[in-house]
Amino acid sequence: MNKTLIVFYSLFGNTENLALEIAIQTDGALRELIPDNNYSFDYNTAAKEVRNQISRGFCPKLICGNEPIADCETIFIGSPNWFKTLAPQVLSFLRAHDFAGKIVIPFCTHGGGGFGQIENDIARECPKSNILSGIAVNGTAQSKEVTKWLETIGYR
Ligand SMILES: Cc1cc2nc3c(=O)[nH]c(=O)nc-3n(C[C@H](O)[C@H](O)[C@H](O)COP(=O)(O)O)c2cc1C
Repeated sequence: MNKTLIVFYSLFGNTENLALEIAIQTDGALRELIPDNNYSFDYNTAAKEVRNQISRGFCPKLICGNEPIADCETIFIGSPNWFKTLAPQVLSFLRAHDFAGKIVIPFCTHGGGGFGQIENDIARECPKSNILSGIAVNGTAQSKEVTKWLETIGYR
């Protein structure tokens, strides 16, 4: 049980880009969370849909990415900052698995708000895991900042 997994949800590509960088630098396996339903193409309508889902604590069905994690020791978990919290797709993943005894490392991308509540949300959902200090990137991740962060948490 020594596999490293990088799990993420991304709507516009920033979090995917950061996940990819982490996967390259840690030699971990990348896993994208794909829900059964997509959001509207219109931004304002999509934002309303997201806000509504978050306020209800809605956990969408995942058609990809929800496979077992028993053989993973370290799991990086990434989400865009949506209204200061996790994307509902990431909440679905967190609620579907047992993280006890695993190392969990949060990451997010944002538009200026940093992690918001995301680190706290992940800690709440993974109470028996060892949570390391995460990275929050505004927009597109730069390879060097990821390297520096991974060094500070002992992954390079
Ligand atoms: C519905 C919605 C809500 C958002 N809320 C916030 C927020 O509260 N704080 C913030 O800093 N950025 C917010 N953003 C910006 C995103 O976090 C940012 O663009 C992120 O990099 C998008 O990730 P993605 O490209 O992986 O989808 C929001 C974006 C959307 C679409």
